[in-house]
Amino acid sequence: MAAIDEIKNNINITDLVSETVKLRRTGKNYIGFCPFHSNTRTPAFVVFPDSGTWRCFGQCAEGGDIFSYLMKRDGLDFQQALQTLAKRAGVELEDYKPENQSEKETRAQLYALMDEASAFYQNNLLLHPAGRSAYQYLEKRGITRATMEKFRLGYAPESWEATLQHLLAKGYTRDEITTVGLVSEKRDEKGDPIPDGRIYDRFRNRIMIPICDSTGNLIAFGARILNPNDVPKFLNSPQTILFDKGKTLFGLNHARQAIREKNQAVIVEGYLDVIVLHQAGFTNTVSPMGTALGEFQARQLARQARRIVLALDADAAGDNATRRGIDMMRDALKGEVETVGTDGRALIRQENKLHTDIRITKIPSGMDPDEVVLRNPDEWQAILDQAKPIVLYMMETVSEGRDLEDGKVKSEIADQILPLIFEVPDPIERETYRQQLARHLKISETLLQYGPVVKSQPKAASKRRAAFPEKPRLDSGSELVFDPKAGFYSKEITILQYLYHFYDLPGSFSNIDRVFRRFHLMPLQPDDFDQSDIRQIADWYFKGINQDDELNTKKFIREHVPDTVAETFKRIENPNFQGSVNLIELDKDLARYIALRQRDRNGSQSFRVPAGFGSPDFGKKSFGKCA
Ligand code: UTP
Ligand code: MN
Repeated sequence: MAAIDEIKNNINITDLVSETVKLRRTGKNYIGFCPFHSNTRTPAFVVFPDSGTWRCFGQCAEGGDIFSYLMKRDGLDFQQALQTLAKRAGVELEDYKPENQSEKETRAQLYALMDEASAFYQNNLLLHPAGRSAYQYLEKRGITRATMEKFRLGYAPESWEATLQHLLAKGYTRDEITTVGLVSEKRDEKGDPIPDGRIYDRFRNRIMIPICDSTGNLIAFGARILNPNDVPKFLNSPQTILFDKGKTLFGLNHARQAIREKNQAVIVEGYLDVIVLHQAGFTNTVSPMGTALGEFQARQLARQARRIVLALDADAAGDNATRRGIDMMRDALKGEVETVGTDGRALIRQENKLHTDIRITKIPSGMDPDEVVLRNPDEWQAILDQAKPIVLYMMETVSEGRDLEDGKVKSEIADQILPLIFEVPDPIERETYRQQLARHLKISETLLQYGPVVKSQPKAASKRRAAFPEKPRLDSGSELVFDPKAGFYSKEITILQYLYHFYDLPGSFSNIDRVFRRFHLMPLQPDDFDQSDIRQIADWYFKGINQDDELNTKKFIREHVPDTVAETFKRIENPNFQGSVNLIELDKDLARYIALRQRDRNGSQSFRVPAGFGSPDFGKKSFGKCA
């Protein structure tokens, strides 16, 4: 059931466990005392964020996922755990609501109505003289009769009520026909439908393309003009209780199996492209509904295939809409859209978890995929084979038509691409991109190190680099505000203490952001905190910084922080700052500290947090098994 996967994607197991178990990071995983058996000496409970699982290596010798964890923790049955976590993840569990029986029947009736409409349209196309020109048009587009039948293509006649009358005659009610969006209602001057006013066919003189959900229920229509003067070119069904365009992928019902088998999903832009590609054997192809791919859709695909290929129109490839589309895709896969800012680490975590490999390929200028594949299927295959990872694709795209001998241009391109490279979790992959970028710009690789690229204002540059060495070390100098010996937990508290007390105005906070940017770091945000209590407070801190009443940030935070984290908040509000705080060094220090953590999370071997980084006894014991 897809909802379960969706819930798993949305809930961070570490957060869930941290609600009641104090966890400590060990490399990629977390460790703590098992909440299910009594032992306060040996932490044997491990949380694996990548796979979303937990396991007690001690007495319990048990493990599982978020559901089994909550069942065990709160004594719930699976149903209850599912309900609880679904609510928390914001996932609807239609099939599991018992009171849904009547809703289910309604839907079944509406599906039947859509099938009836489709049969009517199909009949018009395949058998009726009125559908002749539509049929010929589709033939001219290279679509065979078998394909028309497979995709249930149809034709809506040039009439204001042919469809309506047909459906009424079949016994469907005016309400039902309106609900599925097959008719439009006459509206008053305010734009509200007139009660019992006139209704008329929404689709007239158009080729009807049924849109199905992933299991094949007909939920909407895409309707293409025949008369070139009509607008819009495609008219889709409105959002209805059956159809949510953000959650629908055209062709998925036919593509699902191939996507799994090939472990690859190909995304194109048009309905007709999907149809013709399927006809040519490229059955792992889908398209969104004329909009950018949304979060839900991206995840839906990522669950079924490791590789996702975006086939983009060459003319659109460099434009802003496409960039936005790619950003959207990345955002979608990072899975935490409610978080503001560019969150590299969340993206990486999500990419790791979903094991998604996103590639982009360009379709030759002036052509659509359907034309390419009709001309020569091998050519389409070659285009797919040329798909490039996001970083390389962006590198080429931002370089297009630019003078790569110009120093300033090189510098700009490096600025645009380096942050992307730093987001790449795999060290080998990341290193490869770095080398490729250096070669591409014909500059030395050493200029593309982490940290500042050596090209800031000449005077400040050397100083800045001294303050922020290319490979900062935890023991690099006594001016470090953050005590490297302090536990992980207290480090996070310390960061938040400084933020809360010294960066309580939006202006002061944006200074930190600026420093971060200079060092090619992602902006600081709640997700940078691993401890869920601190993360919650951080969340309110950022909300406080962004609210309207600038001068009352602290008051705002104080009033909003939930009771459940009151203890921690008290420690933050009443800190015990030892010694004087060097405010001038503070933002750099913060940046340096966060840099270390970001790099650690990105899996860079050279920035492993050394043993002893955690609490005092960190690393002393072997956590592998219980005594
Ligand atoms: P295109 O204009 O590229 O159309 O829109 P196409 O699919 O290549 O169709 P042909 O080849 O001209 O017949 C791409 C997609 O954008 C959406 C549709 O999903 C379409 O398939 N779209 C386009 C709309 O929803 N409305 C429009 O008016 C135009
Ligand atoms: Mn086209």
